[in-house]
Amino acid sequence: MFARVDHIGVAVEDLDAAIALYEQTLGMELVHRETVTEQGVEAVLLDVGENHVELLAPLGPDTPVGKYLAKKGPGIHHVAYQTTDIEQTLSALKAAGIRLIDETPRIGIRGSKVAFVHPGAVGSVLTEVVEPAH
Ligand code: CO
Repeated sequence: MFARVDHIGVAVEDLDAAIALYEQTLGMELVHRETVTEQGVEAVLLDVGENHVELLAPLGPDTPVGKYLAKKGPGIHHVAYQTTDIEQTLSALKAAGIRLIDETPRIGIRGSKVAFVHPGAVGSVLTEVVEPAH
């Protein structure tokens, strides 16, 4: 169902400080930065081999990541698995009785198709399915 881990999503309060840590101190290459207004988030991707770390900073307190930070503080926010056919993967998950947040994919960063699986269905881990843009 899944090809590999695509990225680890990390919620941060200070994006520039987080970039300094991951890029300069940890030596990961920053490959993409994008503001997704409808999700209330500024996201940055850094390369770790063929996988990524995705840093997420909220555009305001009343956004999903803003609320997450207020409740839990900075840290690991979600795990994203890569698939080559997200519609097929979502159908298979649904057929297996896995509760989805997104029944149909939406457009994520870098033109990818993404959907979130309900954390209650995956041992309290917010799980994202990603089909990268081709
Ligand atoms: Co993500």
